[in-house]
Amino acid sequence: MSCFIKKIAQQNPHEMYDNVFYGDNMMDSDKDSNSKIVLTGDRPTGPLHLGHFVGSLNNRLKLQESYQQYIMIADAQALTDNADDPSKVRKNILEVALDYLAVGIDPEKSTIFIQSMLPQLFELTAYYLNLVTWNRLKHNPTVKAEILQKGYGESVPAGFMVYPISQAADITAFKASLVPVGEDQLPMIEQTTEIVRKFNRTYNCDVLVEPEAITSSVTRLPGTDGRAKMSKSLNNAVFLSDPEDVVAEKIKKMYTDPNHIRVEDPGTVEGNPVFTYLDAFDTDKESLEAVKDHYRRGGLGDSKVKMRLLDVIQAFLTPIRKKREELSKDPDYVMDIIFKGTEKAFAVAEKTLTEVKEAMGINYHANNKVDLR
Ligand code: TRP
Repeated sequence: MSCFIKKIAQQNPHEMYDNVFYGDNMMDSDKDSNSKIVLTGDRPTGPLHLGHFVGSLNNRLKLQESYQQYIMIADAQALTDNADDPSKVRKNILEVALDYLAVGIDPEKSTIFIQSMLPQLFELTAYYLNLVTWNRLKHNPTVKAEILQKGYGESVPAGFMVYPISQAADITAFKASLVPVGEDQLPMIEQTTEIVRKFNRTYNCDVLVEPEAITSSVTRLPGTDGRAKMSKSLNNAVFLSDPEDVVAEKIKKMYTDPNHIRVEDPGTVEGNPVFTYLDAFDTDKESLEAVKDHYRRGGLGDSKVKMRLLDVIQAFLTPIRKKREELSKDPDYVMDIIFKGTEKAFAVAEKTLTEVKEAMGINYHANNKVDLR
C-alpha cells in the first residue's frame, strides 16, 4: 500500500458503519484524536449514486465521528468542464447537499460548504500554479483519463488542465491530512502532496500539511451496463435518489455474465456486476456464498440473483429515499446548513491564506502601511 493511502474496509453498508479497518499506517491513538482534519468534496454535476456511497460517502460517515470534517461542493471545479452550463452546476448544489444529509452526513459533525464562495481557494491556486510544471500536469493520470473520456482532443479548457492544482488548494486551505475519495482521485492527492512539499521547501516553512487519501476496499462499483464506472452521462448509474420503480428497472436490465445463457449453464461470479453489487451491499455473507456456488455450478438464473440484489438495494435505499424526500420539502433548512458551513469554512481558508502569504513574504495590506523596501 502506498504511503499516502489508507484503506477502510467495507464489505457491506451495515458493517461499513461500525467495522472500520484503518490501514497499517494508522496508529490506534489516531482514532480518538480530534487533531486531524478531513477535507473532501464532489462536483455538483448530478445527484450522487451508489458508486459515490461505496467509494467515499460511507467513509465520510465514519470519519465524521472522530474528526473535524469539511465536505466541499466543488461547483467551481464542476465549471471547468461545464462552463457553458452554469445553471446545471448551480441546480445540483442542493441535490448533492440533499444526498449528503440523506445518507447521514450530520451538519453538527461535518461542515458542508460551497467552493466558489471561498475566494481564498482561488488565490491559493494562483500561487501554487507556479510550483507545478506544465509537463507534470499533462501527465496527471486522472486528468489524462478524463480528457479521453470527454473527447477533448487538443481543445482542453485551461481551467480543466489545472484543476488538480485548485484541488490542492482545497485540501491545503483546511490543512487536511485525511481525504476520503474514490480511487480515481488518488493522483490528485499525490499531486497535492508534491505541492505541499515544494511549498514548504521553497518558502522554508511548515505551513502546509501533507494529505493522505482514504479509499475503500470495494474501490469501484461498475456501471449497471458492466462498464468500469458509474456515470450519469453513460446512463448506467443507480442514484441514491432513484424512485423504487426506477431502481427495479435498472437492476432488471443489469449486465451479467454474457456466457450464462441458459439457467443450467455454469456462470461466472468474478467481474459480474450483479455479484460486485451484492458483495458491496448484501449483509448476509454466508448465504451469499451459497448463491455464488450455485451460480458457478449452474442451475441458478440471473433473474433470481437480480431479485436478491433488488431486495438488498431497496432495503438500503428506502430509508435514504425517505429522508431525502422529507428534507427536500424544506430547502431553506438545507441552504441554511450550507451557508452556515460556508461561513465557517471561509474563516479557516482565510487563516491559511494569511499564513501562506506570510511564508512567501507577500502579506501586504494597504491600510497598515507595510514597509516594502
Ligand atoms: N475532484 C473531486 C471529484 O471529482 C472533487 C473534489 C474537488 C475534491 N476538490 C476536492 C475531492 C478536494 C477531495 C478533495 O470527485
